[in-house]
Amino acid sequence: MPEHAIEAQDLVRVFKKGPRAVDGIDLAVAPGEIYGFLGPNGAGKSTTVLMLTTLLPPTAGTAWVGGFDVVREGPQVRSIIGAALQEAALDPLLTGREHLRLQATLQALPRDVRSKRADELLRRVGLTEAADRKVKGYSGGMKRRLDLALALVHSPRILFLDEPTTGLDIQSRTALWQEVERLAREDGVTVFLTTQYLEEADVLADRVGIIDHGKIVAEGTTDELKASVGRPTVEAVPADPDDRERFEAILAGFGDPCGAERGVAVRLRSSEADLAGIVRALDAEHLKVEQLQLHQPSLDDVFLAKTGRTLEGAAEEEDEGRPRGGLAMEPA
Ligand SMILES: Nc1ncnc2c1ncn2[C@@H]1O[C@H](COP(=O)(O)OP(=O)(O)OP(=O)(O)O)[C@@H](O)[C@H]1O
Ligand SMILES: [Mg+2]
Repeated sequence: MPEHAIEAQDLVRVFKKGPRAVDGIDLAVAPGEIYGFLGPNGAGKSTTVLMLTTLLPPTAGTAWVGGFDVVREGPQVRSIIGAALQEAALDPLLTGREHLRLQATLQALPRDVRSKRADELLRRVGLTEAADRKVKGYSGGMKRRLDLALALVHSPRILFLDEPTTGLDIQSRTALWQEVERLAREDGVTVFLTTQYLEEADVLADRVGIIDHGKIVAEGTTDELKASVGRPTVEAVPADPDDRERFEAILAGFGDPCGAERGVAVRLRSSEADLAGIVRALDAEHLKVEQLQLHQPSLDDVFLAKTGRTLEGAAEEEDEGRPRGGLAMEPA
């Protein structure tokens, strides 16, 4: 097995009359890792996925998937990857089960295992009951789940998921997260997942790359990224408002005062939160606490620190000049 499941070096994609959609990306994803590619609309996520899955040739740079060059060894790459792209290509007139059987045939699975594999995957993505209904009657979430099942038919070692949970309700989202987590932890599948959701990257990804305007602006584990932008803050709300000044005096021993919504807050001196120490110090002065809260910096704080915008603000700004949906492919 190659050292990296996915590797890109200075990967670039320029669209004719378009932007530098991907502007020199380097990345390395370890086997079995869940890599979250987080960025606002138009950041270059799908374009990167299309290049890594051999569906779009890079303008410059190189990438290897499973050790195979995405340009020179396309068929080998395609044989070991599964992909659920942003626009699922489903036939509204086929049922879920028919889709899976068709995919199993296309992937040349032996005839005697096709039905069993279809049943197993339908169960895993929670579509057993809907299996024999036509896809035109499926909800958006059911289509996403079917698309994931289709990507898994040939048991790929490396899985690409482009915004797999956009538009899903919380239950479907959680179910999909669990399945992705299971694939990585139990089956050792490497997962490259794009998302616009901070929470998704936070919960699911072992490592996150934040992409904006075609460039990776930050990369690391979520803890590393958060620690890079600042230390956590602690806010204590006095049970008795008259104790406010005494709270301020005690908390000042742990960090530097900063703005708070209701109570008294400090930015901690160390990145290790000493909540127990704060409780003991307040207790020693017989001060009663109504609420004590730790605020860790969020991935949005990271995005803000690197780009000067918040992720949500960036999405709105990009949306203004750009029709949503529909990834038109340019001929190679
Ligand atoms: N086929 C194309 N022709 C011209 N420009 C394109 C094409 N596909 C994408 N782009 C442009 O490249 C940039 C990156 O697009 P891309 O689809 O990769 O973004 P994304 O991060 O996937 O966004 P979203 O979250 O909205 O899916 C955008 O400015 C987009 O308009
Ligand atoms: Mg996209």
